[in-house]
Amino acid sequence: MIAEVVTQEPVLQFEGVSRVHGSGPTAVRALGPVSFKIRSGELVAIMGPSGSGKSTLLSLAGALDVPSSGTVRLNGRDLANRNPAELSQLRRRTVGFVFQELNLLPGLTAVENVRLPLELDGHPLGDAHQRALEELSHVGLRDLADRFPDNLSGGEQQRVAIARAFVGPRSLLLADEPTGALDSVTGESVVRLLKKQCALGRTVVIVTHDAAHAGWADRVLYLRDGEIVDETVASTAGAGGIES
Ligand SMILES: Nc1ncnc2c1ncn2[C@@H]1O[C@H](COP(=O)(O)OP(=O)(O)OP(=O)(O)O)[C@@H](O)[C@H]1O
Ligand SMILES: [Mg+2]
Repeated sequence: MIAEVVTQEPVLQFEGVSRVHGSGPTAVRALGPVSFKIRSGELVAIMGPSGSGKSTLLSLAGALDVPSSGTVRLNGRDLANRNPAELSQLRRRTVGFVFQELNLLPGLTAVENVRLPLELDGHPLGDAHQRALEELSHVGLRDLADRFPDNLSGGEQQRVAIARAFVGPRSLLLADEPTGALDSVTGESVVRLLKKQCALGRTVVIVTHDAAHAGWADRVLYLRDGEIVDETVASTAGAGGIES
């Protein structure tokens, strides 16, 4: 089921957000201050050198980390001052993560992995299972639902992880180098799949080092030393690829 509430609010908004580790002379500014908005249906790529703050930005966006200053809003709601229960509910219902590797629990089949967030959220097993199968169909893996991760290719595993990130009401995917461990052709197919999800009204933020993958994005934000130093908007959003 594709559950997407179209609102006027940006899906994700950073207002003067910074993250500083430590204090005094040894303080490290990992990010910011940065401000930007991401709207429903957008595919936004984050690029920048190692240490520029990309993972920090994603962690703040997904409420895995708390800003030192500024405001992070998800669907218009300020993430500050929420108790741990509220935050974990928000992570189960609003935002999904995909990382470079080790995304799936090896002891669970593909469909069991995908249905897990729904089970944790108290859905009856039969319902969770059915929704997980639908979600696997969206990523073209309905037939491999009963395979264990070890018996899936790297690209297939990432597609299962994408299905899990979107299962249920979640409509925002935060992906930190999801293609980093894949060959370029497989990596590109994963990005195309993410683009397809955006066409369904879902929203994706992807950290990537690969300019060809970023070429599929509607917008690219470039980070350096924790700041957004450049932003490009695709001239032919949806076409994918970059001209060289
Ligand atoms: N817990 C921490 N304590 C101190 N400094 C940190 C901590 N986490 C991150 N940093 C620093 O913050 C900066 C940004 O880190 P971040 O992981 O966001 O970079 P990145 O752009 O994701 O890099 P990469 O491409 O290597 O993954 C780096 O200088 C890093 O050393
Ligand atoms: Mg990183």
